Amino acid sequence: MNTSHNITMLGTGLIGMFYTLTLHRYRSRDTVKTVFSRSEERVKKFASDWNIPKWTTNMEEAINDPDTDVVIIGIPNHLHKEAVLTAAKAKKAILCTKPLGRNAAEAKEMLEAVEKAGVFQAYLEDLVYTPKTLKSLESVKNGALGKVLWVRSRETHPGPHSAWFWDMDKAGGGAIIDMGCHCAEIVRNFIGKDVKPVEVMCWADTLVHNIDAEDHGIALIRFENGSMGQIEVSWAFRGGMDLRDEVAGTEGTIWMDHFLRTGFQMFTNVGQGGYVAEKAEGDTGWLYPVGDEVNELGYTHMFIDVFDAMDKGRIPMETFYDGYVVNAVIDACYKSSKSRVWEPVKLDIWRGGEHADKDKTGKELIDGKYTLVKKEKMPDGRTKQILKDVKSGEIIEKIK
Ligand SMILES: NC(=O)c1ccc[n+]([C@@H]2O[C@H](COP(=O)([O-])OP(=O)(O)OC[C@H]3O[C@@H](n4cnc5c(N)ncnc54)[C@H](O)[C@@H]3O)[C@@H](O)[C@H]2O)c1
Repeated sequence: MNTSHNITMLGTGLIGMFYTLTLHRYRSRDTVKTVFSRSEERVKKFASDWNIPKWTTNMEEAINDPDTDVVIIGIPNHLHKEAVLTAAKAKKAILCTKPLGRNAAEAKEMLEAVEKAGVFQAYLEDLVYTPKTLKSLESVKNGALGKVLWVRSRETHPGPHSAWFWDMDKAGGGAIIDMGCHCAEIVRNFIGKDVKPVEVMCWADTLVHNIDAEDHGIALIRFENGSMGQIEVSWAFRGGMDLRDEVAGTEGTIWMDHFLRTGFQMFTNVGQGGYVAEKAEGDTGWLYPVGDEVNELGYTHMFIDVFDAMDKGRIPMETFYDGYVVNAVIDACYKSSKSRVWEPVKLDIWRGGEHADKDKTGKELIDGKYTLVKKEKMPDGRTKQILKDVKSGEIIEKIK
């Protein structure tokens, strides 16, 4: 069924703009018909800029607009729950930006509400939909990397653009909830969403800004099958927005640079005459422009998947359940950063599988008594084998 959808957009800030830009470009058939924002001046201008027939400063009115069937939530984190519960009551399809909740308890309430209402729902985690990530995920699924052992995901920039992000109560935390939620879901996608994240060790600190929330964080996430996730975030990185992912498996490696060092650099003494890229720190000198930002950040493929899923009655790549698991991981990060020990990821609802801890490779017997630890060709042309005697446990080397 190829339907077209009429959308209520909640929010006219950075994400409301990126979402609307993605949806309205290329003559999309899914268009924003009603927009809500706090300020009348801003919402009026946004409606006029994007050719949106109705605008309001009343969120409930926007959600209940009888002419729309989809609600997209792009407002600050502390308003997600209220928006989701109101939209579920209105029986609309609900697409919510990241993070789903300020914590797992909020996310769980939202998940249960949408499932009870039986409405279509999607978690708008754009960074698992970048063209590079989609291609990498497909390769991993096809076995190109063997077993994924370690995924490192990094998001750092000089700090967010609106006051509410810096307010712990409204945001639910600092850099870790804001950006670590992207990183955690990237890690889950590569290790396998079916594999349970079991525990977290996290460092968080406020190194630069005069705020209560953390502006830096690093966390290790251990999964049930022994694989590790490593997430790194900063609100004080200089030089733009650094989005990088690394995936290491038993048979291969992937490195991805999404925003800086993408192979596109420009030097200009006078400026290129427009917007450079999100969180760029200057517009002269050496620049790292981004060719098609909404595409490279995954928004295009995200909305294609989500609306296609809605029309075909299938489940999109990212759902509220994924948002809930991510919130549970982030909760464990905050707990560990205070306790300074490994903290369990508390998941009241787990819909994945069970996986045995660690599956060591190299079990084939050599000369009837050894297993191979490692083989390497040396600079002098010899090939060395490092072998383990299965009975005695002794490690020896042999030249081949
Ligand atoms: N890549 C991504 O997926 C991505 C990127 C940026 C932001 N986000 C998420 O989108 C949401 C909005 O972020 P943003 O960057 O667009 O924020 P923003 O500050 O740029 O815009 C916030 C919007 O919400 C409206 N609003 C309504 N009530 C408000 C209130 N009480 N306080 C502040 N604003 C209020 C504002 O009028 C504005 O239209 C957040 O949940 C954020 O985490 C996601």
